[in-house]
Amino acid sequence: MATMNSATNHIKTLTALAAVSVILIGSGLASAQVPEAFYRQNCMSCHTIGGGRLTGPDLKDVSDRQDRAWLVDWMLDPEGVLGSGDPYAAKLQKEARGAVMTRSPGITRELANALLDLIDAESLLEKSAFAGVQVSDRALLPEDVEEGRALFMGSTPLKNGGPACIGCHHVNSVGSLGGGKLGLNLTRAYARLEGRKGLAAWLVAPPSLTMSPLFLDHPIDEEEILPLIAFMKQETEQDLPESSSATINFVLSGIFGAGVLLVIFDRLWGKRFKAVRRPLYDATYSKTKDKA
Ligand code: HEC
Ligand code: HEC
Repeated sequence: MATMNSATNHIKTLTALAAVSVILIGSGLASAQVPEAFYRQNCMSCHTIGGGRLTGPDLKDVSDRQDRAWLVDWMLDPEGVLGSGDPYAAKLQKEARGAVMTRSPGITRELANALLDLIDAESLLEKSAFAGVQVSDRALLPEDVEEGRALFMGSTPLKNGGPACIGCHHVNSVGSLGGGKLGLNLTRAYARLEGRKGLAAWLVAPPSLTMSPLFLDHPIDEEEILPLIAFMKQETEQDLPESSSATINFVLSGIFGAGVLLVIFDRLWGKRFKAVRRPLYDATYSKTKDKA
């Protein structure tokens, strides 16, 4: 009977957990399926609507260039369309200097249609909300680089409360402590994302599953974008070799740090035990002494 009960309890707990996860996943999907949010997270880093080419073409008036059926098929499986030898896709790819669009996770036929409705509506506006950031073209100064470095390292906190880049990223110029190992080494990010405009688009709406949830409510401020770009541009231009000592020092300092912590904990726990034990010990001792 007792086992029956605990089995039923287990089932109840599991059902409750399943229900909670269904709600959580459900709400996640629901919010992801708002076309604006989906576009922001999945398309904006490569496309503007009326702001010129990034990695992909400007999508303004795309429905004048291709019919709806083709565009939906394209969004559902760009690599498949390219692979089929479609001449229009081949032309697009050539114009994109060989870049290949990948299928956005979670896209459906329904959502593709909703995205095209959104693109059509935004194309009619004088200035779309998705025209992209207008980063200044002005020359980047050494002060910009320094400001960007401070933002990257976290010595100047990000204005809107986002986490410092160094927590997850590494650049080769950062001294012996190195940076976080979760994210990428950003030394060549400026080149990889094709310069100022591409990097700016990336930072305004990071299409990264790790970064976007953290920066959605704490976006990198417009005024912080240029300094960060200046810093990353300098990293790319210097292109310092990745120092292996950075990794070793990182590990060593970790071990050293753990050792120091152990010593501190040992002291604290030692004191704690003494603090509890001493009176007990004294009480027992004095009792035995009394008896004696
Ligand atoms: C990694 C960059 C990238 C992302 C992300 C991306 N695209 Fe693309 N897109 C491209 C490239 C590049 C092309 C040109 C064809 C090629 O080379 O693959 C393209 C082409 C297109 C076209 C055809 C444009 C034309 O002029 O006919 C449409 C429409 C499109 N993308 C929509 C989207 C939508 C909507 C999303 C988000 C769900 C998206 N793309 C996400 C890079 C991207
Ligand atoms: C919580 C960890 C985290 C933080 C904090 C973070 N990033 Fe990232 N970032 C990532 C991860 C992980 C990736 C790899 C993309 C992916 O798959 O999610 C990435 C990718 C990037 C890329 C794309 C690199 C490329 O070559 O494609 C850039 C640029 C970038 N981050 C810039 C920044 C900047 C600038 C900051 C600080 C303002 C920052 N990140 C803060 C985790 C983080």
